[in-house]
This record gives sequence, structure tokens and C-alpha cells, in this order.
Amino acid sequence: MKALITSGGKGTRLRPITHTSNKHLIPIANKPMIHYAIEAVAGAGIKDIGIVYNPDTGNEIRNALGSGSHWDVRFAYILQESPMGLAHVVKVSQDFIGGDSFVFYLGDNVVVGGIKRFIEDFLRDGSNCHLVLSKVHDPERFGVAEIRDGKIIGVEEKPKKPRSQYAVTGIYLYDSSIFEAVNNIKPSPRGELEISDAHHYLIRKGYRVGYSEITGWWKDTGKPEDLLEANRLTLDRIIGDHEPVINGSVDDASDIAGKVIIGKGAKIIRSSIRGPVIIGENTIIENSYIGPFTSIDYDCHIKNSEVEYSIILEKCKIIDADIRIERSLLGREAEIVKCHSRPKTQKFIIGDQSIVELV
Ligand code: DAU
Repeated sequence: MKALITSGGKGTRLRPITHTSNKHLIPIANKPMIHYAIEAVAGAGIKDIGIVYNPDTGNEIRNALGSGSHWDVRFAYILQESPMGLAHVVKVSQDFIGGDSFVFYLGDNVVVGGIKRFIEDFLRDGSNCHLVLSKVHDPERFGVAEIRDGKIIGVEEKPKKPRSQYAVTGIYLYDSSIFEAVNNIKPSPRGELEISDAHHYLIRKGYRVGYSEITGWWKDTGKPEDLLEANRLTLDRIIGDHEPVINGSVDDASDIAGKVIIGKGAKIIRSSIRGPVIIGENTIIENSYIGPFTSIDYDCHIKNSEVEYSIILEKCKIIDADIRIERSLLGREAEIVKCHSRPKTQKFIIGDQSIVELV
């Protein structure tokens, strides 16, 4: 069995961060989100993984992921000339897959508990295609499966009137009949070869399309609030069962409560940290409060400020911020600093499509 993981697409809903970086490299609990997909696939014992990329960010992805040896797997980098849809991703990967069965895993999906059980269900059922479903309250954002008598009888992409609450997650299992589907469907009104249309094709042609249901949590990290939620769930899971791991220094005037990981060289000075929180290497937290569900990456400096339920990427500065920063996502090297000079005005230098909410 092989695997395909996506690392392309437009990432428009995560701008401005995705103006300068590939969406799949945005960290969740201080680890690039695509690592979770790779770990899930490698954890299921799959060794040959195709990483599908688009030209604009291909180098960044290659440099970040390398050959796969870090995970004891082999990566083949597969070019998709432009993001023409998920069925198109499968189409351009046909040579790499050959006659094997494979897992197609969207690199912006994070799921708890790995994918071994879905592969087992797929192999046991002997299906041609196996979808992983999750019951959600907003199915219109996803591919939606229509189910009757325990069977999938149709799949629709982002329907206005969903026929069920079952979202099709970004974890798919196929045998080679999927290639017949992706080579026969036509682009949708938005101009993409839709993976949901490929699934619908298989159902119409009488192929066996089975499914498993995710009982734990699953997140498609399409929007900033999804990222914050994935960060919360991941922090809860990865450090939820551990005692604090303190590889940096914490002075006597600081207090650390709950599940906290503090990286090497990090310094906590006269501050309160309430976990779950992860703090990257060489970050300095001074006279500040860091509240639950916060990930702060390496080389940041936070002083005289309060931060909670946020993701702060590397080399950020938050100095003398008067009010608590919450539900926020700060890109690399961003600064929020109080200016002490007169006239007393707000000053912004913010990138395209940034969002600042003032109180
Ligand atoms: O997350 C599950 C959903 O993923 C499914 O419910 C939908 O049926 C499916 O179409 C997909 O919807 P999204 O709108 O979330 O897809 P998105 O455009 O965000 O792309 C998902 C991943 O695939 C992401 O890693 C980017 C990558 N991609 C996307 C396209 C369209 C490519 O690599 N190439 C592409 O052409």
C-alpha cells in the first residue's frame, strides 16, 4: 500500500500567513501541521509516500520535509502544475501509485488516533473506495455523504442543502478503480475536478464504496478558528497526560500550573503559565501571563503581556500589550509592542489581508 499527501492548494482562507508560507507548514502545538499527516501514514506502516506540491511553494515543502528518512519512509515529490482540484491531484499521481491500493490524505487534516483502523476496515470490506466520515454541525462546508441502510448512496461537494450531517473527511482509501473515475469526470462549476464527483462516479458505476466513522476528533484546518481549535485539541492530547516538561529555566517568582512543555534555552521570569501550553526553544516570557491552549514557537519575546488560546509563530515580540491577547494567530516575526512616545496614537504596519480587532 502507498500514500499520497497534499501540500499544495491556495490556502486563501489562512491569509495573510499563507502569503509568505505554505499553509501545511503552519505549526500546531509547535509542529508543522503536515507532520501529523505524515506521522499518521507512517504509523500505519506505509513506506512509500507521494507528496503532491504546486510550483510556487514546492521548494519550501521539499526543504522542510526532505527525503522522508526522518520518519523512516520514502517521499516521492509529485508536481501538480496548478491546484485544479483533488481528483486532479489523484490523476497526476497515477504513475507513482501504479497498480497499488493507496491512502489519499489531505495534508491540512488533523485526526486523533491514527489511520490504521480505517485501513483495516477498507481491507476487511474489500471495497474499491473507503471514505472516512465525521458527524458535524456545519456539513455544507464539506463533501457530504448520503447514507441509506448503512450504505453510501451519494456524495455531494459543499451542498447548500446537505442530505446528512456526515462530512467526508480528507482521508480516503482506494484501489486503482479511482483512476477510472478521475479520468472520466468533468470540472465542476468552480473549475475544479472534485473528489466528491469521483466518489459519486464510483457509486453510480456500481463500485463498492464503504465507510468508517471517526468517533474522536477530526479537524480540517481551513480557517484561523479551525487552526486554534486544532491547536487546543492537540495540546490537550499530546501534553494532556504528561507532567510539566521543563527543559528551560523557570525562576522562583514564576508559577507553572497544569500541563506545560518548555523548550531548551527558554526562560520564564516572574510569569504565570497555565497549561496546556507549549513554549519553544530560547523564547523569553517575562512578567507575563500565558493561559491555556497557547503555543508559542522558538525565539519569541513576551514581556508585560497576557496571551491565551493563541498560536504565536517563531521570533514574535509582544511587549507591554495592555490587554489580554486571545484567539489570535501571529505570523513569523510579528510584533505587538506599546509605543511610549508622544503623540499617543495607534500605529500599524500590517500585511495584505491582515485582521486587527480593536476594543
Ligand atoms: O477536509 C475535508 C474536505 O476537503 C472534504 O470534505 C471535501 O470534500 C474536499 O473537497 C476538501 O475540501 P476543502 O475545501 O477543504 O479542500 P481544499 O481546497 O482546502 O484542499 C484540501 C487539501 O488539498 C489541502 O491540503 C490543499 C490541497 N490541494 C487542494 C486542491 C484543490 C491540492 O494540493 N491541490 C488542489 O488542486
